[in-house]
Amino acid sequence: MTPHLLPRRRFIALVGGGAVFAAAPLAGCSSSPYPAAAVGAWEPVAPDTDLRRWMLAHALLAPNPHNRQPWVADLRRDGEITLVCDAARLLPETDPFGRQVLIGCGAFVELAVLAAAERGVRVDVQAFPDGEPGARELPGGRAVARLVLKAGAARDPLFAQIRRRHTHKGEYDSARAVAAADWAALAACAGERGVQAGAVTDAPRVAELRALTREAYRIEITTDRTYLESAHLMRVGASEIERHRDGISIPGAMPALMSAIGLFDRFEVPRAGSANLQRAMDRWAPFETGSGYFWLASRGNGRRAQVDSGRAWVRAHLQATALGLEMHPLSQALQEFAEMRGPYEALHRVLGFDPAADTVQMFGRVGHAKAPWAGTPRRPLDDLVGPRA
Ligand SMILES: Cc1cc2nc3c(=O)[nH]c(=O)nc-3n(C[C@H](O)[C@H](O)[C@H](O)COP(=O)(O)O)c2cc1C
Repeated sequence: MTPHLLPRRRFIALVGGGAVFAAAPLAGCSSSPYPAAAVGAWEPVAPDTDLRRWMLAHALLAPNPHNRQPWVADLRRDGEITLVCDAARLLPETDPFGRQVLIGCGAFVELAVLAAAERGVRVDVQAFPDGEPGARELPGGRAVARLVLKAGAARDPLFAQIRRRHTHKGEYDSARAVAAADWAALAACAGERGVQAGAVTDAPRVAELRALTREAYRIEITTDRTYLESAHLMRVGASEIERHRDGISIPGAMPALMSAIGLFDRFEVPRAGSANLQRAMDRWAPFETGSGYFWLASRGNGRRAQVDSGRAWVRAHLQATALGLEMHPLSQALQEFAEMRGPYEALHRVLGFDPAADTVQMFGRVGHAKAPWAGTPRRPLDDLVGPRA
C-alpha cells in the first residue's frame, strides 16, 4: 500500500509526524545524512590558507544554539577580526536576552583562538570593544569581541579535536560510568576560562534532573511562541537543508515527502493530551540516557561571563571528544521566558545555586555514545564576512 492510500491518522502513526521530528534530529549514523555541500565546512582546511580565513574556517564549527550561527566577521581592520552578533540570527522567544547566542559567540572566539595558536599566533581578545549590551537587551548588531593578532603562541592540543567534535543527540550508554579523572578534566578546561564547572553523577539527583529536563522540554514545545520559533527553523529534507545550512536539520526522504504532501505540518503545536505530544515526549527518551550531567555557572549573569561560558563549554566539549565522550546541552530549563520560571529555579537549586544570585550558563548530559554521529550543516565562510549592508 502506498502512503497516499493509507488513512491520514494511520500513516502518521506508522512513520511519526508533527513534533516527533522536532524532538529527534536524526538517528546516529556513520556517514553523513546531510547533502555534501551543507557539511563541506567539516573538511580539512589547507594549512597555508590566509590566517584570518583559517581562523574563521575553524571558528564557524563552534556549537551554537539551534545552529543559528549568529556570526558576522568584520575584517576591515588589518590584523584583526571583529566578531559581531548577527541581528538576523537571534532567538527572541527561547533566548529573550541573547544569553545563549552570546555563549555561541564565545565558543566561536575560542575556536578562532585555538586555530590562530596552531599557526603560532596569539590572539588578544577584547570583549565588547564598543560596550556591553544591557542585561535585558538583545545583542544583535553588537561587536562581541575584537580579536587582535599578535606574535607568539604555543599550540593547544585541543585544536586537533575541532573537526571531530559534534553535539551527539542520540542514545548514550547509561550503564557506563565516566571516570572521576575525566569529569575533573572537563571541569579543568572550563576553569581555564574562569568559569565554575561541575558534574552530577549520583543516582537520586540524576533522576531528579531527568524529570526536570523532561518537564522543561514539555513546556517549551507546548508553549505556542517558543515551539513555533523552533518550527520556523526546521529544515526538512535535502533541498531545505542545502539552501539554509543552519537551524534544526531534519534529513531523510520520509519527512520531506510527508511535508510535501501535507502529512507533516511542522507548525502544528503539540497540544496537551494529543498523540502528537505523546510522540514528541517519547522521542525525548534518548535525552535521558548518559552517565551524568555537566554544568557551567557564573556569579550573576554578566555579558562577559556568558561569552566566557561559551569559551569554557567548547573547551570542555573538545576535551570530552579527546576522551571518547559525548556532550549534549539540554538548555530548556535555563531559558528565561516566563513559563519556564519553575524549572529554571528548580534546576538552579538542584545544582546548589541561588537563582537570584548565580546563573547556570550551560547544562548538558555526558556519556559514551552507542553509535557515531555526523557533523551538522554550516553556512559557507563567505556568508559570515561582513559588515552586513
Ligand atoms: C548555548 C547553547 C545551547 C544549546 N542548547 C541545546 C539544547 O537545548 N538542545 C540541543 O539538542 N542542543 C543544544 N545545543 C547544541 C546545538 O544544537 C549544536 O551546537 C548545533 O546544532 C551545532 O551542532 P554541533 O555542535 O554538532 O556542531 C546548544 C548549544 C549551545 C552553544
